[in-house]
Amino acid sequence: MKAAILLIILYLVGLASTNDNCYPETVYMTLGEYYSPDYSEASCTNTLQISFSTVDQCSDSYVIVLPEIIEGEEPFHTNNFLRQTAQPVLGKKQSVVEQSWNGEKFCHNGKNCEKVYYKKFVHYFTFDLCSFQKRFTYKIYGNIDESPRVFTGILPQREAQSDKIQEFLAFGDHEISVPGNYTISSLSKLIQEKKEYDGILFLGDYAYEFYNNNATKGDIYMNSMEPFYSYWPYMFSPGNHEDCQNFAFVDQKFHMMNNISQQNNNVFSFNVGKVHFLSVNLHYFNNGTGVVDPQIQESMLKSVEQDLISANLNRKNQPWIFILGHKPIYCVGRSDCYDYYVQYQQFDRLFYKYGVDIFLAAHQHETTKYYPMYQNDTMPYQQIKQNIILNPKSYMQILQGNAGCDDMNHTDVYYNATWVLSRSFDPGFGTLQVINDNLIQFLNYDSYTNSSLEPTMIYSDHSYHIKNNTIDYELYNKI
Ligand SMILES: *[C@@H]1O[C@H](CO)[C@@H](O)[C@H](O)[C@H]1NC(C)=O
Ligand SMILES: *[C@@H]1O[C@H](CO)[C@@H](O)[C@H](O)[C@H]1NC(C)=O
Ligand SMILES: *[C@@H]1O[C@H](CO)[C@@H](O)[C@H](O)[C@H]1NC(C)=O
Ligand SMILES: *[C@@H]1O[C@H](CO)[C@@H](O)[C@H](O)[C@H]1NC(C)=O
Ligand SMILES: *[C@@H]1O[C@H](CO)[C@@H](O)[C@H](O)[C@H]1NC(C)=O
Ligand SMILES: *[C@@H]1O[C@H](CO)[C@@H](O)[C@H](O)[C@H]1NC(C)=O
Ligand SMILES: *[C@@H]1O[C@H](CO)[C@@H](O)[C@H](O)[C@H]1NC(C)=O
Ligand SMILES: *[C@@H]1O[C@H](CO)[C@@H](O)[C@H](O)[C@H]1NC(C)=O
Ligand SMILES: *[C@@H]1O[C@H](CO)[C@@H](O)[C@H](O)[C@H]1NC(C)=O
Repeated sequence: MKAAILLIILYLVGLASTNDNCYPETVYMTLGEYYSPDYSEASCTNTLQISFSTVDQCSDSYVIVLPEIIEGEEPFHTNNFLRQTAQPVLGKKQSVVEQSWNGEKFCHNGKNCEKVYYKKFVHYFTFDLCSFQKRFTYKIYGNIDESPRVFTGILPQREAQSDKIQEFLAFGDHEISVPGNYTISSLSKLIQEKKEYDGILFLGDYAYEFYNNNATKGDIYMNSMEPFYSYWPYMFSPGNHEDCQNFAFVDQKFHMMNNISQQNNNVFSFNVGKVHFLSVNLHYFNNGTGVVDPQIQESMLKSVEQDLISANLNRKNQPWIFILGHKPIYCVGRSDCYDYYVQYQQFDRLFYKYGVDIFLAAHQHETTKYYPMYQNDTMPYQQIKQNIILNPKSYMQILQGNAGCDDMNHTDVYYNATWVLSRSFDPGFGTLQVINDNLIQFLNYDSYTNSSLEPTMIYSDHSYHIKNNTIDYELYNKI
């Protein structure tokens, strides 16, 4: 009712003429603060965030979420009729961020520098969608008197349901290119099949270089990926190719709003079902080519440790802890990557100490699974067949950097290392299934051959970390 009155008022005041500069572009959805580990159970606000950009400020913009409209079905068909009993929800406009760049220099590793002239407005809307079903429709009005752009979205259940398998897409290192387009075709098939993934875990490096041609390259990429990023919640972990201007550009473009007062994407966490996810921007520690800042390092290390302590106290609800990042801690085949462990060993220590299960990274353009590692060495595990690992005694690193870019040829294909479980170099993406409290499975789709690689299963009794710790593990010992 309130929404309806507001709409009428909006309509009456909306006398502005048609304005193409208010066409909503680069639409994506992310999970809202409702999924934050600190979220109070009492209410149900900020379930979802929808974001888009416009050329002008377009202060009349608004977004409405509706029960799913099933195309081709009569309004009084049972499905549509039942769905119509849910009320439309008007989004709360949280902010409109002006992105204004006037010739600032953007580079990658000090090379490929360009002056960027760019002006866009990024709109952030949040929604309270507690009574909504998983699948819904939303309409974005860039301007009051223009026809809306209409999308379908999928909202995951926050609470773990014991009998339901959760499933996420995971990939990084992606651009519009011959290999990247293979992956886009494969993802399109998933949309046609109406797959209800719980979200996309994007592991950094989009569009190579997003700032090219006055940052239109990034927008072209986001528009090409809009069918996916507007459909499944898109959780963006920054890559090293985003580090120019201290990540300011991507921090304006992507607000991962598990905390709406948070203005950067350096550390954020969210819970979906049985998994606690923590995304960490490791590039502030990458003293080779990254953005080193001791103050940010200190505050990030503190946030990460605090987050992992509370995640451990909450293992009963979320038995799995997954880290999202971009550059790996361990690697194989590239001469420069042996430095990563040296630079990131503080995270190696924290991930081990607090019993992180999986570190999902990218950066190397391949999909590679590692045996459990700690202090630059493999840790104990049992292996059944090639692809089933039991009770790894440290976290396992999984790289999903093969979504596809122009640099997919590797001279080190035949480099084998004892700490590598499996490797594949074709473009593709991963899907991560959480089967129950003790079992997860990684599937890899190969976009060149349209086939799935053999899945990797990991069974964990979550015991390895319940040893050398100061916090009281008795509290959650029995999962
Ligand atoms: C990739 O696909 C897009 C969209 O269909 C197309 O515009 C582009 O030319 C393709 N790029 C390559 C390198 O094939
Ligand atoms: C970027 O924009 C500036 C100012 O409009 C223009 O001079 C320049 O040519 C543009 N650069 C590219 C690569 O298009
Ligand atoms: C969000 O961040 C602010 C400032 O850092 C903090 O005071 C607040 O407790 C956080 N809220 C949640 C839900 O994490
Ligand atoms: C980066 O940091 C590591 C560990 O602190 C140090 O060993 C290494 O020399 C540093 N490298 C550079 C290029 O500063
Ligand atoms: C880590 O292990 C690799 C492979 O054995 C080795 O080449 C590298 O020197 C080690 N790094 C450190 C810092 O020990
Ligand atoms: C990788 O491919 C590019 C273009 O396809 C080619 O120019 C380059 O020489 C290749 N590099 C290697 C190491 O094979
Ligand atoms: C590495 O492993 C691949 C795949 O198992 C195998 O074909 C290749 O011969 C191995 N290379 C070396 C140098 O051992
Ligand atoms: C994979 O699927 C696409 C789209 O259905 C098709 O165009 C392509 O030929 C297939 N590739 C292979 C190797 O079968
Ligand atoms: C665990 O604790 C034992 C005994 O205090 C100690 O010897 C060992 O080094 C510790 N291991 C780790 C990884 O901290």
